[in-house]
Amino acid sequence: MTVTAGVVGNPIAHSLSPAIHNAWIAAAGLDAEYQPFLAPLDGFAAFIADLRGKGVRGVNVTIPFKEEALAVATSASDLAQLAGAANLLVFENGEVRADNTDGPGLLEALATEGFKATDGPAVILGAGGAARGAAAALVLAGSPQVRIVNRTRERAHALAASLGETVTDYQRAEDAFADAAVIINATSLGLGGGEGPYAPFECAPGSAVVMDMVYKPLVTDFLDKAAGRGHPTVDGLAMLIGQAKPSFEAFFGRPPPAGVDARAVALGAMR
Ligand code: ATR
Repeated sequence: MTVTAGVVGNPIAHSLSPAIHNAWIAAAGLDAEYQPFLAPLDGFAAFIADLRGKGVRGVNVTIPFKEEALAVATSASDLAQLAGAANLLVFENGEVRADNTDGPGLLEALATEGFKATDGPAVILGAGGAARGAAAALVLAGSPQVRIVNRTRERAHALAASLGETVTDYQRAEDAFADAAVIINATSLGLGGGEGPYAPFECAPGSAVVMDMVYKPLVTDFLDKAAGRGHPTVDGLAMLIGQAKPSFEAFFGRPPPAGVDARAVALGAMR
């Protein structure tokens, strides 16, 4: 019987996940499909119950339902609990298991430039859900210090306070950037080609890896400025593909097949 998985969001038409997963399904020769599912903004829990009733194997979850996804789960991984959000639900034996593969995706993307969480202080710009997920992943992976910088300081403070003593909020980006090992944009600034967040790269060591969670455009203003100062950079597409890999394995019981250029597939679907 065909195994069905998919991605639930609202809006959902823009999602690159179906293109990536279906390319892997085809290359692996699986009897499976991965669909986009548009859930009503006020009816996520009922929508998930309906998918379970139809025998769907599991779903990725995207904007704006990642917090609700955690709430409908019967069990959740440590990372999903600390992030306060889940992007993966697997339906099995009457259970709804929640996980967060955005965190591993972020770390895998950063590893392409040789970065490990234990390398040194991490700076996160932003204090919303994306920032929380990134901070939680870095904390659990052993980051010595995570520094949160946000326009609304109280939000940065609340986020830092909820994640433990290794997470601190900073008023000034200049202070946060000094001796940083990685600098991550987790704000929505730069999406669609606009200006990125305030980022005084001249205050950071040249070795600091700079990453943007925004992937439209692929080279954001933030990454362009970082590259101009010689920083190694990682784009948001690397993270998107990084989160898709463990999701695929959770749905279909095997890792994605080698030999698929997931980046080229995603870029093709972006056009
Ligand atoms: P997400 O869940 O995707 O992280 P969010 O919770 O809406 O989305 O968070 C958006 C982030 O982008 C916040 O950190 C927000 O800053 P505030 O907490 O001060 O609102 C940041 N952001 C959005 N627009 C911004 C702007 N014009 N200038 C600075 N920061 C901005």
